[in-house]
Amino acid sequence: MSFIIASNWKMNKGPKETELFFKTFLSFVIPENIKTFFFIPSVNLTTALNSVTGTSHLLGAQNIFHEVSGAFTGETSPQVLKEMGVDAVLIGHSERRQFFLENDHVLNLKLKLAQKLSLKTIFCIGETLEERKGQKTSQVLLSQLEKGLKDLELSSEFHIAYEPVWAIGTGEVATEKQVEEAHALIRDFLKKRFAHKSEMISILYGGSVKPDNAKSLSHVKNVGGFLIGGASLVPDSLNQIIQAVGE
Ligand code: 13P
Repeated sequence: MSFIIASNWKMNKGPKETELFFKTFLSFVIPENIKTFFFIPSVNLTTALNSVTGTSHLLGAQNIFHEVSGAFTGETSPQVLKEMGVDAVLIGHSERRQFFLENDHVLNLKLKLAQKLSLKTIFCIGETLEERKGQKTSQVLLSQLEKGLKDLELSSEFHIAYEPVWAIGTGEVATEKQVEEAHALIRDFLKKRFAHKSEMISILYGGSVKPDNAKSLSHVKNVGGFLIGGASLVPDSLNQIIQAVGE
């Protein structure tokens, strides 16, 4: 199975910078075992599509609304994204949960619609520092999985990203043991929930992934990819991560 390198640019870069990024990035040779996703601001997806069409790089939105159309001022329709040629969506990032108050129920609706529309989907889960300190990590992850994936039927590529909130943008990466434990718990849940279909689901780690820790993290059991924030904004550092885990 391919190792997934998913970039999450968050609210960074305009059209010019997006174009410039891909101009540089597309000159790199991507190893065959690597599959790339770029989750970029929706307003720049058209620019990015012009850059990557005809390449193997997949483009995604960082959020969708849970209906396809209607009186929902300011929201983005997943059906329109699909029509534009966008491949994927990121659902449930901790910043969406924290700043936009997205709860498990809403995330479940988004996941169901994304899969119904055959959008490749990455669903993010993760505990806060307070929850980890209170020994609640397993409980939180299982609850996010149970509620988020309730009655979900998979009809398109689907992956989970484990992102401990305290490791996002802090430079504080989870230890290999912490990653291994969380990924084992998630793998076990997926096996029970999706039976043989679970084998197609990769579990990505996210949180301060950098060129210098990528290789060792990629060897942790059940780590099938990375979701990268800061280091994905610079073509060189993203490429260094890719080359570190490429075969
Ligand atoms: P950083 O890689 O900047 O820690 O961000 C992780 C993240 O939130 C990716 O979705």
